[in-house]
Amino acid sequence: MSGAQRLDWVSRPATALHGDVVVPGDKSVSHRSMMLSAIADGTSHIRGFLEGEDTRATAAVLAQLGVRIEAPSSGERIVHGVGLHGLQGSNQPLDCGNAGTGMRLLAGLFAGQAFDSVLVGDESLSRRPMRRVTEPLAKMGAQIDTQDGLPPLHVRGGRKLNGIRYQLPVASAQVKSALLLAGLYAEGSTEIIEPHPTRDYTERMLQAFGWPIEFSPGHAKLEGGHRLRATDVVVPADFSSAAFFLVAASILPGSTLRLPAVGLNPRRTGLLEALRLMGADIRVENQGASGGEAVGDLLVRHAPLHGIELPEALVPDMIDEFPALFVAAAVAKGRTVVRGAAELRVKESDRIATMAAGLRALGVRIEETPDGAIIDGGAIGGGSVDSHGDHRIAMSFAVAGLVAKDAVTIGDCANVATSFPGFTALANSCGFALG
Ligand code: S3P
Repeated sequence: MSGAQRLDWVSRPATALHGDVVVPGDKSVSHRSMMLSAIADGTSHIRGFLEGEDTRATAAVLAQLGVRIEAPSSGERIVHGVGLHGLQGSNQPLDCGNAGTGMRLLAGLFAGQAFDSVLVGDESLSRRPMRRVTEPLAKMGAQIDTQDGLPPLHVRGGRKLNGIRYQLPVASAQVKSALLLAGLYAEGSTEIIEPHPTRDYTERMLQAFGWPIEFSPGHAKLEGGHRLRATDVVVPADFSSAAFFLVAASILPGSTLRLPAVGLNPRRTGLLEALRLMGADIRVENQGASGGEAVGDLLVRHAPLHGIELPEALVPDMIDEFPALFVAAAVAKGRTVVRGAAELRVKESDRIATMAAGLRALGVRIEETPDGAIIDGGAIGGGSVDSHGDHRIAMSFAVAGLVAKDAVTIGDCANVATSFPGFTALANSCGFALG
């Protein structure tokens, strides 16, 4: 979160990875479970809640607005919902930390409240575009002041919201979710049409909390004026956290890892398909469902990878996995071409530029394009890279270090705690040499 100490890592070449790797709870599901539990009637029990800084920031914001939240054990939360109209305003800013998901979804949720809210974030979040949510929310009648499109967001209370039919200009689950949450407080129906289907956790969870909603891939529609009923939520393990280990075991000879009970919502598993197209050996076993979400064990073995032209249709389903994919591409045989991924430029860092600079510093041939990159696979050398405080970039270069010719020093890694607390210990437990 804001003000975190600077932390650098050194990732050294390793021999092989082995064992079971249990990754923490899903970040997207954890944020949503906290928000819906907070405004439901009754007490909800969340298990598998991500103990990351991002999701804890969302819980802290809701606690600041009067929601009582107990944490009986790690990953467990008991949330005493205050009902749809039970949140109480705070005259202090609400700190979303590093979390774009937290800030954008809360902007939607707070647009229909009786009180004003000021949402702030850390340095990285303060650079991220907010008009994508404030403009459609304004069409619903909300008033949210930005700093030229950037945070802090001043969400004005006491506005009457009306439902809208909105065609999203970019595939974004955050924008869709912000509008659906505002739609709970709106008169009439709120309908969202997406250019490409995105993760549907908000829709599924609203349904689980008893709110009538129609949805199918690329489309969602609900009406205001109902209530949410408290429920119990089981958060699956985060596929995006599993992704680093899928790439790591794929590229390091002799490796075999099992990742138990990972969330396999098809809107999240694009990397699985991309890696398989590159020749990876990844099997799904023990498929089932947990808390209404598809889950399964992922069994990954080393396999020689080759470059691909990444199908653009996969991009939204692996939007958080590009830093890891770039590392796989850097060691694959031949060329990998990524297009249609301009959204990467507005994530926690500009992920195309940050990955290109880092890989180049390690001797990899990579050419940036406005919406992707062209990567010529080969050997990765040792050297120093800067993660620019981006958690997924830091973890991706930790993976690169496994197969590098020499140690890779990674700058500014403290934000790994936003999404993956305990990454270093878990990585070292299966064979990384990360310190
Ligand atoms: C998220 C949606 C995606 C993703 C982010 C989490 C969500 O962002 O990158 O990490 O939980 O809805 P966009 O909606 O900006 O694509």
